Amino acid sequence: MALLANHIAVVTGAGSGIGRAIAAGYAREGARVVLLDVNADTVAEAAQEIRKAGGKAESFALDVTKRDDCFALARQVADKVGQVSILVNNAGITRRNAFTADTETVAKDWNDIISLNLNGVFNVTQAFLAPLRVAKGRIVNIGSIQSFVHLRTPSSAAYTTSKHGVLGFTKALAAELGKEGVRVNAIGPGFIETNINANVRATNPALVQAFVDHTPLARTGKPEDIVGPAIFLASDLSAYVTGTIVMVDGGYRTV
Ligand SMILES: NC(=O)c1ccc[n+]([C@@H]2O[C@H](COP(=O)([O-])OP(=O)(O)OC[C@H]3O[C@@H](n4cnc5c(N)ncnc54)[C@H](O)[C@@H]3O)[C@@H](O)[C@H]2O)c1
Repeated sequence: MALLANHIAVVTGAGSGIGRAIAAGYAREGARVVLLDVNADTVAEAAQEIRKAGGKAESFALDVTKRDDCFALARQVADKVGQVSILVNNAGITRRNAFTADTETVAKDWNDIISLNLNGVFNVTQAFLAPLRVAKGRIVNIGSIQSFVHLRTPSSAAYTTSKHGVLGFTKALAAELGKEGVRVNAIGPGFIETNINANVRATNPALVQAFVDHTPLARTGKPEDIVGPAIFLASDLSAYVTGTIVMVDGGYRTV
């Protein structure tokens, strides 16, 4: 039997990259997938692709920074789709400005990144908390290598702070919700080739090489590399796993 049969899975930021790959992977494992993204076009296309492949998927436009919209959307999903049992908090952005850059630029980065990468996770989790509690659901948050370290390559302090926060939130929620049977874990991707780093890949091959040189598996990752661990954490295969982060970084953090 498929690993996620009878589950309804919500994935944020599902129009592109890692979220899109996870949504498709969950659908292949039998889940009915609800794809959410601020970009209505890409998320509709991603859902269409899943349906064409024989999966069950619907899409909704949602900006996860808009708290009221998150709650309204959760009600809409409950009415139109059903009881959500899996939530993947994946939507996120990064910026590569040093903390010593122009004050206003750094402050804007801080506000934009914290309100999406951290407050967005909070908003969506709270909005879907009721069905997740009833379903003894599973939450998978997307962290990063930067849930642990600040890269020495130009990278924003806001991003590092947000991803440390995602890991802290994961542990806090796992501790509180465990007795109800709700499991909360994170995935820490390494350098995965997606739109988030398309510009770096196009303009700064030396930076990409520095990542690869530091990575025991000696390559960058693809969105598909995240799918297996994401299925594991959402399925009964991980029934006794909560409050942890699975690093999917080619071994980056071990060296
Ligand atoms: N690619 C990597 O190397 C890497 C490494 C570590 C962690 N991550 C994390 O993985 C997650 C997914 O990133 P990705 O690499 O797939 O990037 P991506 O840019 O390909 O996808 C991000 C998606 O989030 C959506 N999004 C942006 N703002 C949104 C908002 N306000 N509300 C809803 N959706 C919004 C975008 O439209 C896009 O579809 C992010 O949390 C990112 O921080 C990525």
